[in-house]
Amino acid sequence: MRGAVCHKSPEFFTTMPDPTPAAPIVAQPAAAAPPSDAPVLRIENLSTAFETENGLLTAVDGVSLDVPRGKTLGIVGESGSGKSVTALSIMRLLPHPHGKIIGGHIWFDGRDLAALPLSELRQIRGRRIGMVFQEPMTALNPSHRVGKQIAEAILLHERLSKAEARQRALELLAQAGIPAPQERLDAYPHQLSGGMRQRVVIAIALACNPELLICDEPTTALDVTIQAQILDLLKKLKAQRNMTVILITHDLGVIAENADDVAVMYAGRIVERAPAETLFTRPLHAYTQALLQAIPALEGVPKTPLFSIKGQVPSLGELKPGCRFAPRSGRPYTEADLLERPPFVEIEPGHWVENSRVCVGGGGEGVGGGEGAQVEGQG
Ligand SMILES: Nc1ncnc2c1ncn2[C@@H]1O[C@H](COP(=O)(O)OP(=O)(O)OP(=O)(O)O)[C@@H](O)[C@H]1O
Ligand SMILES: [Mg+2]
Repeated sequence: MRGAVCHKSPEFFTTMPDPTPAAPIVAQPAAAAPPSDAPVLRIENLSTAFETENGLLTAVDGVSLDVPRGKTLGIVGESGSGKSVTALSIMRLLPHPHGKIIGGHIWFDGRDLAALPLSELRQIRGRRIGMVFQEPMTALNPSHRVGKQIAEAILLHERLSKAEARQRALELLAQAGIPAPQERLDAYPHQLSGGMRQRVVIAIALACNPELLICDEPTTALDVTIQAQILDLLKKLKAQRNMTVILITHDLGVIAENADDVAVMYAGRIVERAPAETLFTRPLHAYTQALLQAIPALEGVPKTPLFSIKGQVPSLGELKPGCRFAPRSGRPYTEADLLERPPFVEIEPGHWVENSRVCVGGGGEGVGGGEGAQVEGQG
């Protein structure tokens, strides 16, 4: 995660005054709430920007996503592609005052989180939507015992005595797979290993039994064995609690193991979205294909150099309106390809792609596009 935005602790989310008290929400056109069988979370055309020395720069640019109930949606993309800013927009935890949602809707339980008064948002944040971040040490308060931190998260939303909250904290530590939880209750974060600390962070996020858990790179700071354990834990807890999960990662291997649906994000936009199996077997966008090529194969030819995508995700000031991956795709493109945003079309049921002439059509006309293909209102 980038900059100061990302180093907010779960305690911060639940106990600190709201960091975006007056974050202006640019007037949204009125839109009807979706029907009750809608996904747990539906993001429509979300745009989020930062006021900078160089003016207002858009980090999330017309993103639309559905998160079906009880499923795990993986959001994958390289560093700087806008994954965390998307997550922070959902929670309305953008840095104040320069981060703001400038367009779109975030539907949760029939309400638009992008436009909800803060008093109502606080009833949802931490209680109905929980969040786990990448780096457990920065997510915990180093000077408070872990039991106290979990109990505080519980007491913020539920009327329990301190003793009851402590008992609940103990249960949560046990559910998070912490051995000897009774002893750990009184430990300080620095007395725990990285994996243990992340389990504590998960326990805090689960304290109020959220329906939706957003995990932003929950394991990248941990070594590989611990990573697998934490991901298994999340899977188990999700099944036990019938939670819906958004799992943000730059690792398609993690997605393959854990996600039902995948959204591939590049330079502030979703370039492809599909059920995981479809995405892995029939990737359409050059960026998705490149990410897949960059996964190390277990049975590869020894000493084959690992493929990496040349160049970098453009910075916010360099973003063009048109196809943003074209310059890195290794395919021929013209300036005209960078001028107009390609339409986001449904190529087969549930499989959407930003239908770039360069990145999908290989310099031709893109795919589908003609009769029957649906176009989503992005951009
Ligand atoms: N507080 C901020 N002020 C200005 N720009 C920001 C701020 N936070 C993020 N950005 C910019 O927004 C873009 C998206 O950043 P974001 O943190 O969402 O990327 P990410 O996909 O989460 O990357 P990573 O994998 O490194 O966590 C980047 O260009 C980043 O520099
Ligand atoms: Mg991030």
